[in-house]
Amino acid sequence: MARRKLRTRLCDMLGIEYPIISAGMGPSLIGETTGAPVDLVVAVSEAGGLGVLGGAGYSVDQLREQIREIKKLTGKPFGVDLLLPEAIVSSGDHTARDGGKKVMLRDAIKSLPESHYQWIMKVKQDLMLPDTEAEVTRNATTTSPHASVKVCIEERVPLFCAGLGNPGFMVKDAHAVGMKVLGISGNSKNAGRIAASGADLVVAQGHEGGGHTGRVGSMALWPQAIDAAAPVPVLAAGGIGDGRGVAAALAMGCIGVWVGTRFLASNEGGALPIQKDAILKATDEDTRRSYLYTGKTSRTIYNSFHDLWESSGLEPLPFPVQVIFASAIVDMLNRAEKTEYVAPFAGQVSGLIKEIKPAADILEDMVEEAVDILARRLREDVVAG
Ligand SMILES: Cc1cc2nc3c(=O)[nH]c(=O)nc-3n(C[C@H](O)[C@H](O)[C@H](O)COP(=O)(O)O)c2cc1C
Repeated sequence: MARRKLRTRLCDMLGIEYPIISAGMGPSLIGETTGAPVDLVVAVSEAGGLGVLGGAGYSVDQLREQIREIKKLTGKPFGVDLLLPEAIVSSGDHTARDGGKKVMLRDAIKSLPESHYQWIMKVKQDLMLPDTEAEVTRNATTTSPHASVKVCIEERVPLFCAGLGNPGFMVKDAHAVGMKVLGISGNSKNAGRIAASGADLVVAQGHEGGGHTGRVGSMALWPQAIDAAAPVPVLAAGGIGDGRGVAAALAMGCIGVWVGTRFLASNEGGALPIQKDAILKATDEDTRRSYLYTGKTSRTIYNSFHDLWESSGLEPLPFPVQVIFASAIVDMLNRAEKTEYVAPFAGQVSGLIKEIKPAADILEDMVEEAVDILARRLREDVVAG
């Protein structure tokens, strides 16, 4: 079949064929692989969309290696997503403080509040779990945002994406080398702030999305974010799994889409086979939004760890300290193969996903269906005038 045409302003801004971006998904927790690895980035960019590397969780040196690997495998535009926690951006990289040495997670948990440490020990004993063997990388991109941004600028990454926090502090340097900058928000206030910081694009991610997610649903958020960010254009995220979602987002005035869970559940997506399986099995009601995993609200497939946490009576620790807490327990659960307690970050759109397939096929199907709706079905099915 001849290639379909589906173009918006985003295609001209980024030099891509289709206005579809695969989201920069990092690992859910310490010790897990990134959700959006090099293979996914390359597959999506080569298919005419734009792939974004999930850079959270890599060390700063690994980040540079991954970017260079992408450049070796594709000449097409791509992006890198990092988390930029405000507190660390303003107080300085942790690498600068402790030289970036590695520590074992089982030692790192000893500096958590006593209540949280004791609870980890209780869970370990009750469920007869082995020790965690995971390592905490002190110079992870999330705890060294300045050094990580510097790598992206030195490597001239075509699209820099701030998954958390405001990218305003790096916009001028990025623009100076011809990069574009994108920020993600879950409400109209932050959409306006990111736009005002000088970013080129704003992603508005609705409540139903996988990973960190806010309180406002996509349908209500997208138009309000468009108004708040204007004249900076908005991409839609949260709940898009096929061409119907793409068409709806474009109809609302978004200039493209940012898709996470659907691409996580692809051949190239970074989730483990057991995690992809959990997405295939999930219905639209099978995800939960909780402070449990990171200290900020994030959406995962529901699992028994949610029940344990809810019965603990503990308060979540601030991001990213809660990540240490949750990672230690999940690593121990993984080692004991307690699969009912482990599940990936994923959105409500999981219920729509019935097959793991190549990312290029996912993208082509989305384009095909969106074109059919926008160019044919709407005209036939809707009387307007
Ligand atoms: C496994 C997973 C990991 C994620 N990690 C990140 C991340 O590191 N940075 C980020 O900006 N967004 C992250 N997200 C959110 C996505 O970027 C995206 O906004 C979201 O998946 C969109 O909703 P959808 O899952 O319904 O497509 C993650 C999402 C998932 C499913």
